[in-house]
Amino acid sequence: MIGFMCGIVGYAGTAPANGTSTPAGHQALDVLMEGLRRLEYRGYDSAGVAVVAEGGIAMRKKAGKLANLTAELAQRPLPDSMTGIGHTRWATHGGPTDKNAHPHVVDGGKLAVIHNGIIENYAPLKAELLQQDHTFVSDTDTEVAAVLLGDIYRSLPDDGSADGARLTRAMQLAAQRLEGAFTLLAAHADHPGTVVASRRNSPLVVGLGDGENFLGSDVSGFIDYTRRAVELGQDQVVTITADTVAITDFFGAPAEGKEYLVDWDAAAAEKDGFPSFMEKEIHDQPEAVAATLLGRSDLEGKLTLDEMRIDADVLKTINKIIVLACGTSAYAGQVAKYAIEHWCRIPTEVELSHEFRYRDPIVDDKTLIVSLSQSGETMDTLMAVRYAREQGAKTIAICNTNGSTIPRESDAVLYTHAGPEIAVASTKAFLAQITAAYLLGLYLAQLRGNLFQGQIKDVLADLAKVPAKIAQVLANDGQIKELARSMADTRSVLFLGRHVGFPVAMEGALKLKELAYIHAEGFAAGELKHGPIALIEEGQPVIVVVPSPRGRDSLHAKVVSNIQEVRARGAKTIVIAEEGDESVRAHAEHVFYIPETTALLAPLLTTVPLQIFACELATAKGYDVDQPRNLAKSVTVE
Ligand code: G6P
Repeated sequence: MIGFMCGIVGYAGTAPANGTSTPAGHQALDVLMEGLRRLEYRGYDSAGVAVVAEGGIAMRKKAGKLANLTAELAQRPLPDSMTGIGHTRWATHGGPTDKNAHPHVVDGGKLAVIHNGIIENYAPLKAELLQQDHTFVSDTDTEVAAVLLGDIYRSLPDDGSADGARLTRAMQLAAQRLEGAFTLLAAHADHPGTVVASRRNSPLVVGLGDGENFLGSDVSGFIDYTRRAVELGQDQVVTITADTVAITDFFGAPAEGKEYLVDWDAAAAEKDGFPSFMEKEIHDQPEAVAATLLGRSDLEGKLTLDEMRIDADVLKTINKIIVLACGTSAYAGQVAKYAIEHWCRIPTEVELSHEFRYRDPIVDDKTLIVSLSQSGETMDTLMAVRYAREQGAKTIAICNTNGSTIPRESDAVLYTHAGPEIAVASTKAFLAQITAAYLLGLYLAQLRGNLFQGQIKDVLADLAKVPAKIAQVLANDGQIKELARSMADTRSVLFLGRHVGFPVAMEGALKLKELAYIHAEGFAAGELKHGPIALIEEGQPVIVVVPSPRGRDSLHAKVVSNIQEVRARGAKTIVIAEEGDESVRAHAEHVFYIPETTALLAPLLTTVPLQIFACELATAKGYDVDQPRNLAKSVTVE
């Protein structure tokens, strides 16, 4: 389920009978704005609301935070209404502009649509709709869904009823044609009092009121009004009015939802019931990876980037790649280097942006710069990208924030779709960055002919299995949490890894420094004998990321020797190993198993227990894991 991009809310209430307001009769706009305020953590690129009024749709939308929409509404108020939909956006297709903000209004100003998710087949659908002379004003996949819905709605006979049956039917038919992940909400001027929604691989909950009903991406969208909620199943359509909630599948067969009582308070609801954003974001990771993989191939099954302003011929002549990033993003870059060099046979350097900028690096028009930044605003990385461009290099940004400065100033962009990351220390953005950088590596290998299409397909198939494997790691977090709690008094932890496990070890150490303020270092296991082993004394905890024992060129035996070496000198060894690897048991105090995957994809799994470890240990020490001391989410000064 793609659970974290965009917040959506829908409302259907009862009009006050004689000008006085009934207990249930809230103004749609008040409910929508309150819901959006609570859902803003899901996205804050733009916000918009639409209400059904006077035979038409009245709509306001604005780029930027919700405050901009509030200001717009103060200047240009909306008419009273008991029905409406609202949206707060985390941009995926199309930049964060007024034009691309939701709702999208079609069908001659009568149909308003909002969307959360990614519609994978929007390109062929758009081509088809363009042929039928439909026009588009935005760059979004959402508008394609809206126009399709409007088109289908028009093609259905007018049954004369105001109850929304025609809109419901149109939604069912539209949903059948959409691929990918979507929650869609629609309101139509011909059916005042009705909101229709559909969902596939994307969240939607119904809130049950008295004489009013609600829709939300999660319960925080309506928690101020009701705690009675209905969970919808996969591939369902729901139609709400003030007094009714009707659920069907995409083919119109009636379906049941599961009613439950929300026992979280509003603050916990924003965190999906987790005690911190950090924990929520660690649990978002299966979706972050899945969403980053979604919709990445064109009609011929070839990989595509979001924005590409570099000629394929130019990319074919590139003779060096330099990956630029800071902090956790730089470790994602170090992981990616192994894959990019292996697949593309292009020498790849990874450099901290601030070091690169001031050392007179060798950069020319045959250099490809790949910047990695969650925020897209890190000043050090921005300056390094600018500098490289001045030297004639081509620049590709891998970024989680649509329309931010680094992608805007780059020649090409590949967005990670991790959704907003609120906790200061990065978790889900890291896994999404590795995923996106791997897609870029495969894209270059495809373009330059380094890999056969079949090989690329195999890697993509392995990648597609990763989200479920991350979920498995998350489901078995009890043992690592218990260990973390028992180590709350630890003063220093060392992390060891080889190959892709080396940057994972460094990231594990960084998480522990950031969250638990414990001295921690990550080393290449092979470097141990060249210095770090002097640090080992009785009881020193050492966390070792062990590569898979499978495969011909296995480094497994070497890492197992490293474990023995530190253990012989008194280290307390904690091992992350692949399921079925019994050989490590004899040398480890604690073993945490991760599911099998290929060597290059292992970091997407081995990182997760290290994040959980740091988060739980910091929590046991009573620290605020969302806002660690001295740190900022986005460092916009050099
Ligand atoms: C800050 C954050 C880190 C992040 C780094 C790079 O230091 O605290 O979590 O990894 O910036 O940020 P970016 O947005 O460029 O990925």
